[in-house]
Amino acid sequence: MQGKQPVIQELNKLLTGELTAADQYFLHSRVYENWGLSRLYERAEHERVEELEHASRLIHRILFLEGVPDVASRAPIKTGPPVPDMLRADLDYELLGVQNLKAAIAVTEREQDYDTREILVDLLKDTEEDHTYWLEQQLGLIAKIGLANYLQSAIGSSLGSP
Ligand SMILES: [Fe+2]
Ligand SMILES: [Fe+2]
Repeated sequence: MQGKQPVIQELNKLLTGELTAADQYFLHSRVYENWGLSRLYERAEHERVEELEHASRLIHRILFLEGVPDVASRAPIKTGPPVPDMLRADLDYELLGVQNLKAAIAVTEREQDYDTREILVDLLKDTEEDHTYWLEQQLGLIAKIGLANYLQSAIGSSLGSP
């Protein structure tokens, strides 16, 4: 089905965001792993896979609309250390994703592409209720129990492993 150009443009912009988020979680998960923070590693790795799954949904839709998916572009990655700065950088990127999704949803409404709108609403739900919520929780925990206690819990089950 021939899609509207403004919708395809928005989908490609969102695709860049998802791939950049996946890269940022890729880096952060491996840094956490290197530090022995296995619980944080597992969660960041889970987010990385989910961002790639979001990217996959966008690529499918762009192809369906007979557009060309841009899988090469990336936005600059923000990172730490320390851990709170890494979590904050991830949260900032998720919040930017929320803004971009809302802007893209407005474009789908203007262009009356309601099936694309539905896909983006699902992505918005994942972004707001899962990723953003978890990151806000972590920063809240650090504020409540202190960084040292938080890091102790983030070690998880890696103590004693090679
Ligand atoms: Fe995502
Ligand atoms: Fe996300």
